[in-house]
Amino acid sequence: MTAVKPHHSPAPAPVVVDLSVADLRYRLHDVLAVYVAAMDYPRGTENHRAPMWTEHTTRAGWQAVAALLPDEDGRVDLRTAPIVAIAYGYHGAPHQWWHQQVHSGMRRSGWPENSARELLSDYFELTELHVHPSAQGRGIGGILLRRLLQNRTESAVLLSTPEVAGEGNRAWRLYRREGFADVIRHFVFAGDNRPFAILGRRLPL
Ligand SMILES: CC(C)(COP(=O)(O)OP(=O)(O)OC[C@H]1O[C@@H](n2cnc3c(N)ncnc32)[C@H](O)[C@@H]1OP(=O)(O)O)[C@@H](O)C(=O)NCCC(=O)NCCS
Repeated sequence: MTAVKPHHSPAPAPVVVDLSVADLRYRLHDVLAVYVAAMDYPRGTENHRAPMWTEHTTRAGWQAVAALLPDEDGRVDLRTAPIVAIAYGYHGAPHQWWHQQVHSGMRRSGWPENSARELLSDYFELTELHVHPSAQGRGIGGILLRRLLQNRTESAVLLSTPEVAGEGNRAWRLYRREGFADVIRHFVFAGDNRPFAILGRRLPL
């Protein structure tokens, strides 16, 4: 006799939570797996990024949010629940490599020194924002972005994203929808030949 399959219930809606430094370090492997899948990077990229993501947790103003799948009872155990999205950032500061790269890029692309200094004097760097491909297109990226930014005290937020023809991907649509404007276009970071855009907006949202 053929068994009747139980009715398939729809996937539970992910739950968005703040991650502490300890939470992120405990789930480092899992959040890096989301990053590698979202960016379609080669396997093994996790290993290069792990020390960097760990070091970032020590920076002033570090803050992270994640989306996790609840169990059948609707509970979310931060230590075990599957992670489908991760975002974090920290307070930008002049000794940071990214800050220095962006500062010189702004100058080379025509920003006057005083305007560049003013923007870079008080900003949140949105360092990473990734939604697993299986969970994209349901508004989760937007929820994480707004949750990270809603209580920041900085006067601006800056991020970098790969240049894409016609701004034709979800990242670009999300950032434009949330009011991000060009800071530098077609910027090449030292040691990486892919062009990036630096985008930013004033805070609060
Ligand atoms: C970029 C990224 C973080 C966006 O996250 P996301 O959850 O897919 O995106 P959004 O929150 O904007 O939602 C995407 C789509 O859902 C739609 N949407 C928004 N809110 C929604 C909701 N409540 N219900 C259903 N759909 C919704 C949007 O209209 C959007 O449509 P579009 O992509 O056709 O413009 C994610 O797609 C991703 O990780 N991409 C690959 C990696 C990457 O590019 N990372 C950023 C590099 S800097």
